[in-house]
Amino acid sequence: MSSPPRAGIRLTRRRLLSGAASLGATSLLPAPGPARERIESLGALAADKGLLFGASFAVHELDAPHGSQYAQLYEQEVRLLTSELEFKLSTLRPDARTIDFAPADRLLAFAHAHGLPVRGHTLIWNDALPDWIKAIDPRGAGHLLDTHIDAVMTRYKGGVRYWDVVNEPIAPWDRQPGNLRAGPFHSALGEAYISRSFRAAHAADPAARLVLNEAFTETADEQGETFRRSLLALVRRLAADNTPIDAIGLQCHLAHRYRYDFARFTAFIDELASLGYEIHLTELDVDDRFETGSIAERDRRTADLYARFLAAVLPVRAIKVLSLWQLADHTSWLATTPLKGRGTPKPPPRPLVYDASFQKKLAWHAIADAFRAMPPR
Ligand code: G3I
Repeated sequence: MSSPPRAGIRLTRRRLLSGAASLGATSLLPAPGPARERIESLGALAADKGLLFGASFAVHELDAPHGSQYAQLYEQEVRLLTSELEFKLSTLRPDARTIDFAPADRLLAFAHAHGLPVRGHTLIWNDALPDWIKAIDPRGAGHLLDTHIDAVMTRYKGGVRYWDVVNEPIAPWDRQPGNLRAGPFHSALGEAYISRSFRAAHAADPAARLVLNEAFTETADEQGETFRRSLLALVRRLAADNTPIDAIGLQCHLAHRYRYDFARFTAFIDELASLGYEIHLTELDVDDRFETGSIAERDRRTADLYARFLAAVLPVRAIKVLSLWQLADHTSWLATTPLKGRGTPKPPPRPLVYDASFQKKLAWHAIADAFRAMPPR
């Protein structure tokens, strides 16, 4: 499959936006084919094999001093935008009376202007909640779930291709049946909050692709084993109940400090896929915060981890979407999340494919090589 000629279209739009109106009409024509071919991007390399490549995007970054470089990076590299904050209850529902659609509207406008489909992350998550939802009366939680999903999905019907309908349902440390994550929706409805969310989502936008998204399934340790076992059991129960789910999302926040057995993880993906679901790798990055050595050594180890991971999983043709969690190191959640009791990470983490000066890193080339080597889907 060859990639669509988006580079030429973008060039034309940029010329228009940068005052090209004063140029003659012929200079606004799309760039000829060969010029397009020279622009190599992860999005285009993935599309050549039928894989949709994207990254999470946060609209507030457009207001930063690096805003225009940030926008250009996404224009160039991705074919899919995942909202990092804009669709979360913490953003949309600051209080019981308000729905603040402004950040999500802005993200949709950016995506639309650049012809990018959107993954809406996330409708229901028993975490990252505003205080008023944490304290909600159990009788109000079911009503909120139904009306929230309906209001948000109706507003963006046709504009959001994929929805992470439920995020991170598993949390063994909460000691609930099925190892489910505790929280207001779970306390009010039990496990049924999950199928109820998907049914509400399907009713609101039957054409949208609905995803159950989970973290912590990759490691070779006991925690990884527990997450894999619990998620697989949950997905089997949901399938038996005919819950309308199209894809299982696996976040894939990798870290050098964890032990992996990627053959074991690939077998788990195969098992999920054999139940009839698409697989989306939704939040890939590599945490190098505890790595020592020079920047060059750290970057080499990180590129190597990306390469080993992708060489193991990408042969699975059920993987249709691969999304990084941001593209540049300084906009990663790892750069802004304090280390427990140790303040802001020092030195700054380098988890992604571009550095803080928007220069391509070894990890970019590792992913590009993996896309060139993978079988088409
Ligand atoms: O916008 C405010 C800012 O005004 C304020 O000064 C600052 C002070 O802390 O906080 C800013 O908001 C933070 C926001 O990130 C933007 O940086 C929130 O406090 C913080 O909670 C929020 O964290 C996000 C987190 O999810 C919780 O929503 C991360 O950016 C985001 O990357 C992270 O993403 C999660 C996925 O949703 C699920 N999987 C794991 C992944 C990484 O944790």
